Amino acid sequence: MSLTELQTQRARLRKTLRQRRNSLSEAEQRSAKERIVVKLQSLSQWSESSTLAGYLTNDGEVDLAAVMALAWQQGKKTTLPVIHPFNPRTLLFLDYTTDTQMRVNRFNIHEPEPHCTGVIPIATHDIILMPLVGFDARGNRLGMGGGFYDRTLAGVLQNNNRPLLVGTAHDCQQVDAIPIAGWDIPLDIIVTPSQTLFPG
Ligand SMILES: Nc1ncnc2c1ncn2[C@@H]1O[C@H](COP(=O)(O)OP(=O)(O)OP(=O)(O)O)[C@@H](O)[C@H]1O
Ligand SMILES: [Mg+2]
Repeated sequence: MSLTELQTQRARLRKTLRQRRNSLSEAEQRSAKERIVVKLQSLSQWSESSTLAGYLTNDGEVDLAAVMALAWQQGKKTTLPVIHPFNPRTLLFLDYTTDTQMRVNRFNIHEPEPHCTGVIPIATHDIILMPLVGFDARGNRLGMGGGFYDRTLAGVLQNNNRPLLVGTAHDCQQVDAIPIAGWDIPLDIIVTPSQTLFPG
């Protein structure tokens, strides 16, 4: 398959899956956010973690506000992705607490106001909770199409002490096989409201 064909397939799949999660009812979204926190909290890796990256809900994604609140309650350090001010299409992770000064980025997503002392290196994280548009049982991930997470995490996979990459999603975002590209970073674990997958 040519790269153009692959990109066309991926664009089509993104559209279908984004429509799917955006058509979930309020009740379904509420139940999803309540169930996903229970699933995450029961992971041994969650209990062992002290620093984790989350993300704020956008485009019908599962709301992780309760997940972040639980992390705070348990004394964990949390971060959020911020669009890198200098390095195009990459992310920085910034410290996130109830006092964090927020701003709206160019995708209309809230992010911490960037400042040097708030930057937490990727290697310091135990877990990175990753948003996704689609996933399969092998741990393949389709994002929103910017390549932000792929670019940001490209260097860390070889690292022995790298963070655990945990995809969080609605069940309706699962497909049999994601048409993958060479640069896609796979997930170690996928957590949905009804299941936890360990693609290994
Ligand atoms: N490590 C990388 N280095 C350079 N370019 C990259 C890298 N990873 C991805 N890209 C580029 O980013 C573009 C988007 O990638 P892709 O379609 O996989 O995004 P995505 O995984 O859906 O998005 P995201 O990672 O933001 O959730 C691709 O065209 C690809 O060329
Ligand atoms: Mg990708």
